Amino acid sequence: MADNFPPVNLPKRLLMGPGPSEVDPRVYRAMIQPVVSLLDPAFVPILDQLHELLRYAFRTQNAITFPISGTGSAGMEAALVNLLEPGDTAAVIVGGVFAARMCEIVERCGGKLIRIDVPWKAAPDPDQIRKAVGGKKVKVLAAVHSETSTGVCQPLEPLRAIAQECDALLVVDAVSSLGGLPLETDLWKLDVCYSGSQKCLACPPGLAPITVSERAAQVISQRRRPVQSWYLDLGMIQQYWGKERRYHHTPPVNMLFGFHEALRLLREEGIEAAWARHKQSHMALVQGVEALGLKMFVEDPAARAWTVNTIRIPAGVDDARIRTSLLNRFGIDIAGGLDKLKGQIWRIGLMGLTATPSSVLLMLSALESVLADQGFSLDRGAGVAAAEKALQAPAQ
Ligand SMILES: Cc1ncc(COP(=O)(O)O)c(C=O)c1O
Repeated sequence: MADNFPPVNLPKRLLMGPGPSEVDPRVYRAMIQPVVSLLDPAFVPILDQLHELLRYAFRTQNAITFPISGTGSAGMEAALVNLLEPGDTAAVIVGGVFAARMCEIVERCGGKLIRIDVPWKAAPDPDQIRKAVGGKKVKVLAAVHSETSTGVCQPLEPLRAIAQECDALLVVDAVSSLGGLPLETDLWKLDVCYSGSQKCLACPPGLAPITVSERAAQVISQRRRPVQSWYLDLGMIQQYWGKERRYHHTPPVNMLFGFHEALRLLREEGIEAAWARHKQSHMALVQGVEALGLKMFVEDPAARAWTVNTIRIPAGVDDARIRTSLLNRFGIDIAGGLDKLKGQIWRIGLMGLTATPSSVLLMLSALESVLADQGFSLDRGAGVAAAEKALQAPAQ
C-alpha cells in the first residue's frame, strides 16, 4: 500500500554543521535537467567546462582535474590507491578523524605507514614532521588542510618544503577548504588535492573533485601493477574526461549539472572574494561567540579554519539538548564533536551559502537563546553586537 510509504517531505533546515551545507537554488534547478547519455553532444561541452571551472577552483593548470563519482572519501581513497603500491611508504600527519581515515586507507593499500600524531587543537610543528620523515624513503606525505573534526587549518607551504626534502608526493585533503580557504594547487606544488561537492561549493554530496600534478600522473603511469581499485583508477577515468571520451562508468549526470552551476557561481563571485567572505564570517562568529562568554577550541586564531568553527562546550551545559533546541526551535543544524572530542565541542560550519552576515547573526542569536534556556549566564545581545561590529570592518 502506497499509504505506508509517504513521499519524502523533509523540514527546511539551515545547514550550519560541518557539512553537508546549504545548496544554492540555482544548483537545484540545474539538477532537474533531463538525464542525457554520457556522450550526448549536448553534454560533452559541459564536461569540458567542468574541467575548466574546477581548474579555476583548484588554482591549477593540471590536465588531470575532474570530479570523481563519489563523496569526499572517494577522493581520499582515489588519491592514495593510485599513488601507493604494496610496500610503499606513506607519512600521514594525523591531527583528527579524517587524517586517521587516510592512515586506514594506506594500510589497506599494503603501504608502510608513518603515522605522525600531532595535537588536535593547534597547527602542527613542521619540525616534528620533518623529524618523523627525515632520512626515510617516503613516497607520499599526506595531510588534511582543514581538519573538519577539530577546526584546525594546517598551513600547506611548510609541508611542500618537507615533501621536497624527502622527495615525497604531497597529497592534500581539501574537503572542507576548497572554495572557503586560500588553496593554491600550483603555487604550493600540491601533487594530489581532492575535495567534496557538499561543503564550501554549495552543492549536494556526491562528487569528489580531484586534481593531479604532472609529476604524480607520471608516478601513476609507471606503476608496477594496476591500481587495486578498478572504479577509482584515475588513469582509466581520465580516458572519459580527456580527449578519448572513452566510457568507464556512467557518470551521475544530474550531479554534474548541479556541480557545473555551483562552480559557475564560484566563478561569478570570484574565488578570492569567496575566501574573503568566509574569513569575514568566521571573524564575526568568533567575536560573537567570545562576547557570549564561550571559548574557541583552537586557541591560536591563526590556526583556525574559517570554514569549520569549533567551540568548547561550557561546563554544565548539555551538548545534545543545545543541538536539539537549535534544530527544533530554529531549524538550525550544527554538529557535536567526533571521537575523543565528543561532548567537548560544537562544530559550526560557515561554508558556502552560510558564510554570510545573516547566517552568523542568526546563529549567534539562536545560540544565545538556547544557552540562556539552560541557565548559562551570558550578556544578552552581546554576541550579535560584537559580530555586527566585526562585520563592519572591511573584508580583507
Ligand atoms: C576533511 C574531510 N575529509 C574527508 C571527508 C569525507 O568526505 P565524505 O563524508 O563526503 O565522504 C570529510 C567529510 O566531512 C572531511 O571533512
